[in-house]
Amino acid sequence: MPRLSESNLRIAHEIISRYPRAKSALIPLLHLSQEQDGYVADDAMKHLAELLDLTPAEVLGTCSFYEMFKREPVGDYRINICHGIACHLLGADDLIHHAEESLGVRQGTVTGDGISIEGVECIAACTEAPCLQVNYRYMNKVDNAGFDALVDGIRDGSVSVPKHGTLALTRQSISEDKAAGNSMVESNDPPAWWPEPAAAEGGN
Ligand code: FES
Repeated sequence: MPRLSESNLRIAHEIISRYPRAKSALIPLLHLSQEQDGYVADDAMKHLAELLDLTPAEVLGTCSFYEMFKREPVGDYRINICHGIACHLLGADDLIHHAEESLGVRQGTVTGDGISIEGVECIAACTEAPCLQVNYRYMNKVDNAGFDALVDGIRDGSVSVPKHGTLALTRQSISEDKAAGNSMVESNDPPAWWPEPAAAEGGN
C-alpha cells in the first residue's frame, strides 16, 4: 500500500504541524513513507505532494537526491558492502563475490527471505576495512566467515537490526501547544505567529 495508511496519515499531520511551513516536513514524511512500505513508491510521492502542497516533481527531486530513499522495493535487510579503495585493497571484491555466491543473488536483487546486497562507495570507516553496513549499522573487518555468521544471525533472529526503513525505534511526539500549527495544505504565507520583520530585527 504505497499511500500513507490512516495511522501514518495521523502521524504525518502531527509532523507537519511542527513546522512553520508544511513543505519543511518533506524529508520526515519521506522517511515515514519508506518506513511504511520499505521504499517510497510513486503513489506515495504524489500523496506527500498533496499533503505538503508541492508538485510530485518537487517530491521526486528531493527523494531521488538522497541515497537512503529507495524508489523500488528492496530487502528488509540491505547489506551494503563497501568497495571503496581501502576496502577494495583488503578484499572487498572477494567478499562481494562470496556474498553473491552464498546468498544466490546478484547485487541489487533480493533473496526470498528479504536480504539484498549492494556494493557501495566509501562508507567512511576505512580503518576498519573491509566493512559493510546492515540497514546502515556498521560491521567492521568482515571476512567471508563473518559475512556468513551475519546472514545466519539475521535469519535466526540473533542479529537484531531493525528492518530497512525503520528510522528510529521510538517516535517523538510534539504536544499541540508546542506545535507550529500547520495541519493541512497551506499557502506560502508565513504563519500567524511568525515575527514581523521589525520585531525579529529588534529581538537581539
Ligand atoms: S573504503 Fe571502505 S570504508 Fe572507506
